[in-house]
Amino acid sequence: MNLETAMRLAIEQSERVKGATYPNPPVGAVILDSDNEVAGVGATEPPGGPHAEVLALRRAGQRAVGGTAVVTLEPCNHHGRTPPCVDALVAAGISAVAYAVTDPNPVAAGGAARLGELGLEVVAGVLADEVSRGPLREWLHKQRTGMPHVTWKFATSVDGRSAAADGSSQWITSEAARADVHRRRAVADAVLVGTGTVFTDDPLLTARLPDGSLAERQPLRVVVGEREIPPEAKILNDDSRTMVIRTRDPHEVIKALSDRTDLLLEGGPTLAGAFLRAGVIDRILAYIGPILLGGPITAVDDVGVLSIAHAQRWRFDGVESIGPDVLLSLVPN
Ligand SMILES: NC(=O)c1ccc[n+]([C@@H]2O[C@H](COP(=O)([O-])OP(=O)(O)OC[C@H]3O[C@@H](n4cnc5c(N)ncnc54)[C@H](OP(=O)(O)O)[C@@H]3O)[C@@H](O)[C@H]2O)c1
Repeated sequence: MNLETAMRLAIEQSERVKGATYPNPPVGAVILDSDNEVAGVGATEPPGGPHAEVLALRRAGQRAVGGTAVVTLEPCNHHGRTPPCVDALVAAGISAVAYAVTDPNPVAAGGAARLGELGLEVVAGVLADEVSRGPLREWLHKQRTGMPHVTWKFATSVDGRSAAADGSSQWITSEAARADVHRRRAVADAVLVGTGTVFTDDPLLTARLPDGSLAERQPLRVVVGEREIPPEAKILNDDSRTMVIRTRDPHEVIKALSDRTDLLLEGGPTLAGAFLRAGVIDRILAYIGPILLGGPITAVDDVGVLSIAHAQRWRFDGVESIGPDVLLSLVPN
């Protein structure tokens, strides 16, 4: 197996644990034996548990000797809650290490340099773009900025409406698109809505499987706004924890959630507009259904743009078909 194919396998491993490792990065690792056959795979366990490399080495056993470790993030070089992965790789007799992304955290960095000093062959940057835009996107953002990564997700008709004129909005997109949203909730740290959505839709805001049962992981549910929500609101049930943040200031909201890594904003047009005006959205996910609604209920309120010269410009980061719908991913230009 070549390095890129092995890295794709490592990426798959990391995606399996996304959401379960924060504040640690969701890392995937593959050990190739000296014949370049897969000898072991691993992904980061929740905080306090072993790192991906250590699990993959354990599974590879003696086959790691003279082999290659393929890891989505530069192996760590420091004693945190677990010993340095660099030491584990050397002790297992690994001869070469390939990784995708350099660790931006100064405390953990330096692993590649140390491996080189110890005589191992080191290859950096294998599928770095796929990893940094994929499984490590939110964690890398947190490392660079100190703030959680915010994704605004919304469902819209082709003509940019989030509900019909009478307010009914179930459903603009297909079951397949909604299942995709539930998968994203299951890997998010927190899911946010405004009080308006709670009053209108009374959502559960849990991550559910296609059969309606609860997913294994549930995000923190967050309600933003000054009004008190009724105690019988479904969002306050026992399926997951819920936090109510009594403010309208997006910066205060993010500050209150600063220990989190990956926030999914699912609010209506008012909250989305407020977050866009405040410039705190790092990615937009637009699920577009092949439907026209017309009418006054737009997907987003005022975003603070009065003329085309001041338009908020974003860049397409990905386009995919989900059942009959399209999912557009955008990042700031
Ligand atoms: N298509 C979609 O993806 C989607 C997603 C969610 C909702 N919806 C639809 O959106 C509709 C609800 O819309 P909505 O706009 O009322 O929901 P919202 O944006 O979730 O909630 C709006 C409320 O949030 C509070 N808020 C928090 N920060 C604010 C700020 N900076 N400025 C103003 N208000 C702030 C206000 O309540 P306080 O008075 O309590 O402060 C405001 O009334 C429903 O019909 C729902 O079906 C659609």
